[in-house]
Amino acid sequence: MIQFISELQESCRCVDALLERYLYAISSKHPTTLVQAMRYGVLLGGKRLRPFLVYQTGRLFGLNQNSLDAPAAAIECIHAYSLIHDDLPAMDNDQLRRSKPTCHIKFGDTIALLAGDALHTLAFTILANASMPAVKTKERLKMISVLAKASGAEGMCFGQALDLDENLKNNSAELLEMIHRNKTGALIRAAVHMGALAAGKKSKQIIHYLDSYAGAIGLAFQVQDDILDLIKDNERIRKNNKCSHKTYPSLLGLDMARAKVIDLYNESLTYLEDIKAIGYNTSMLVKLARYIIERKK
Ligand code: IPE
Ligand code: IPE
Ligand code: MG
Ligand code: MG
Repeated sequence: MIQFISELQESCRCVDALLERYLYAISSKHPTTLVQAMRYGVLLGGKRLRPFLVYQTGRLFGLNQNSLDAPAAAIECIHAYSLIHDDLPAMDNDQLRRSKPTCHIKFGDTIALLAGDALHTLAFTILANASMPAVKTKERLKMISVLAKASGAEGMCFGQALDLDENLKNNSAELLEMIHRNKTGALIRAAVHMGALAAGKKSKQIIHYLDSYAGAIGLAFQVQDDILDLIKDNERIRKNNKCSHKTYPSLLGLDMARAKVIDLYNESLTYLEDIKAIGYNTSMLVKLARYIIERKK
């Protein structure tokens, strides 16, 4: 696990260095509160799990880090934007994120909304312009398309819309799974897909295994997130969180939700076994799956 944690920290350093450069370039021309809010949302904290997935999937295929920094930074921008907007009064109305005041508490709703918008577009600026020495234009374009689809009305935004739809009160397992697979799972799958795309054309079979792995850990990640929210709610003040009922612990109870996380973990390992059988070293992806279900934050 020590190697895993140091790899995670290394992902954080690489991705933050690229984001620092882009934000510095913007702020040197336009030193606005908007850029401060973007920095606050994207650079101060966060586990960097999606960048880690981009790096580790690329490395599975022997790709150098310098071709993976751009997709790793781009997906983190989308993630940060999604959290800034998710915390807004019109959505979850949360006051704390990563133990600090949420972006809108610190900068106001208008700047937070715009910081989210600007991080959203920054993701695609990075993907379109940043150096990726080993990546052909066709794959770069495909990455843009994969990230756009995963972020929008067929991915993260779709899941968020379902999550916040007050008319969808009946909490069925099917509905919950659809919400979780979209609001959280879509970006996690996109991270793996972009890592594979950076490494060039891969067989349909290996993409299918990787995608299935990412789908399982993506769902496990959100179920674990909802379990953690429930058991350590002391840091969060969720006065007006409209949709706290749409979670696995509230549908199934804590024990069954925990069992669901373990099932998904075991499922994710079966896909990694398939990938290992083709000859790839999946040890970091195994460790990531374990980290996701054991994490306490
Ligand atoms: C939190 O995601 C929101 C969900 C999608 C469940 P993370 O737990 O990955 O957030 P940070 O970036 O590490 O804070
Ligand atoms: C956040 O989901 C998912 C996205 C921002 C896409 P939640 O609302 O359940 O996550 P937290 O609890 O705010 O981190
Ligand atoms: Mg939410
Ligand atoms: Mg939230």
